[in-house]
Amino acid sequence: MKNLDNYKIENKKVLFRADLNVPVVEGVITNISRISAVKSSIKKLVSNKNKIFIISHFGRPNGKFVDKLSLNFILLSLKKVLEVNKVHFLKNLNKDNINKTANEMQSGEVCLIENIRFQKEEEKIDLDFAKSISFLFDVYVNDAFSASHRNHTSITGFAKFLPAIAGNNLIKEINNINSFLQNLKKPNIAIIGGSKISTKIKLLKNLIEKFNTIVIGGAMANTFLLANKINIADSLVEENLVSDALNIQQKAKKLNCKIILPIDVVCANKIEDKNPIYCKIEDIPLGFKILDLGKITTKLINEEIIKSKMVLWNGPVGAFEYKPYDEATNGIAKTIKLNAKKFNIKTLAGGGDTVSAINNTKSESGFTYISNAGGAFLEWLEGNESPGVIALKENKFI
Ligand code: 3PG
Repeated sequence: MKNLDNYKIENKKVLFRADLNVPVVEGVITNISRISAVKSSIKKLVSNKNKIFIISHFGRPNGKFVDKLSLNFILLSLKKVLEVNKVHFLKNLNKDNINKTANEMQSGEVCLIENIRFQKEEEKIDLDFAKSISFLFDVYVNDAFSASHRNHTSITGFAKFLPAIAGNNLIKEINNINSFLQNLKKPNIAIIGGSKISTKIKLLKNLIEKFNTIVIGGAMANTFLLANKINIADSLVEENLVSDALNIQQKAKKLNCKIILPIDVVCANKIEDKNPIYCKIEDIPLGFKILDLGKITTKLINEEIIKSKMVLWNGPVGAFEYKPYDEATNGIAKTIKLNAKKFNIKTLAGGGDTVSAINNTKSESGFTYISNAGGAFLEWLEGNESPGVIALKENKFI
């Protein structure tokens, strides 16, 4: 796989895939790390006098124009974070407009192209479309690791028609995640949370072979509790996956992997309720929902973290967007912050919600590496190489 260090791109028209799918709350970007992530590659391409056309998706507009998913809003932040003088903007991938803008642009300038998912050709992997667009550029750079698990035109299609190069952020993500996974030392612990076990079955099956302790938190733990015949009252559950949960537990036992499930919980009638009750899992009252881990479980997890040489974290362990159900998740972030350096614990985290919890508690300094990726991080941990990375490796033009 060629990258910006071993493949020189100079005075070229570059089609650059970024992931600018940033978190936005009430029109305000709450985390710029996906913009900062591409800065190093963009700076290099700028200094080598290229004309850089950035493509990205934002949200899931399903091939149609959706006003509130326009990437127009990001222009100012892009200019500021990338430290460039001007960012041109193109409303679509119209060939004449691309050529016109390319002629107007000075060397070293940047142009952002509107949300690629407004094009119906993006998610269908339309190779005729990919070919006709590729023809307008000299080289394709993929710096969007966090979108590389999608087999979409802008991830795998352009690489079929242009020299395709890995950007610095994509390389950094792969190197850091691989370096963690390929150098696992025991005792180690994986903390896996989130609402649905259905999205994490493959991950859990893979991790029980590599970790000696796995914490299962968030609503996905409820399916495990139900599998163990615990009355979870009105808690969110995937009943059809009870047998998978049992299967994972049995396999973990055989492999000597300890699974930590909630012992005590915080629960309420509804998530808006600010005065929850605290109880042991055997005592969940009728009509109540589990919304966070209790203090005993959190303490147990935190003790396990401190005893470990390596910690992997993906997914909040409670309904952390709603106070006061953020305590266990925040507690874990703070424990890692306070102890990772002191006890020389290697820590890897990823996933949008996990990163938000780390940011909310200002715990970044406790992490050896924090991935920008959500789904792509998960799939990489499952042992799958992303289609976007495979497309770079198999590129025929370099
Ligand atoms: C993400 O936020 O994980 C990436 O931008 C991919 O987005 P998607 O899940 O909509 O493909």
